[in-house]
Amino acid sequence: MTGSLIYSNASICEAVMRVLYGRGYNERLRSVAELIAEGSSVLDVCCGPGTLFHRYLKTKGVHYTGLDINRDFVERLSAEGATGLIWNLNEPRPLPRAEYVIMQGSLYHFLPEASSVIERMITAAEKQVLIAEPIRNVTDSRFFCSRFLPVS
Ligand SMILES: C[S@@+](CC[C@H](N)C(=O)[O-])C[C@H]1O[C@@H](n2cnc3c(N)ncnc32)[C@H](O)[C@@H]1O
Repeated sequence: MTGSLIYSNASICEAVMRVLYGRGYNERLRSVAELIAEGSSVLDVCCGPGTLFHRYLKTKGVHYTGLDINRDFVERLSAEGATGLIWNLNEPRPLPRAEYVIMQGSLYHFLPEASSVIERMITAAEKQVLIAEPIRNVTDSRFFCSRFLPVS
């Protein structure tokens, strides 16, 4: 999945997220952003195209670091005033510290053994760990064709 077409480009990735999760995508991002205090430090693991930063956190003056295995996503963040680091979360090295450590819509990459990445997130968090994992998307749809979108 990591090397799939969906993750090859920031716009494609965002568009797919919107199709998969509909209104829930923006609501999730907004809800997470509301929990982040102005001016705080944020580590977003598996940050994807950094939509949380671009759309919701940039105006809050946060110190945002995004980690992702995808070089294009990370470089885009670095070009826009945040810090982006290429990082494979399957490697057991400690994560950079931050007040808030966030993972959104990505825990499934680490199942069924997600405890290693979650423990590193807890160790890195000075204030709070936020994990927002959708439990439903369009593949649960009653419309037969929608269930076969390439999401995993
Ligand atoms: C479904 S996207 C979610 C992106 C973003 N968190 C969001 O909610 O819009 C999953 C992201 O996890 C990244 N990813 C997958 N496996 C990874 C790994 N082992 N280490 C780091 N990032 C990984 C992918 O490159 C992709 O950007």
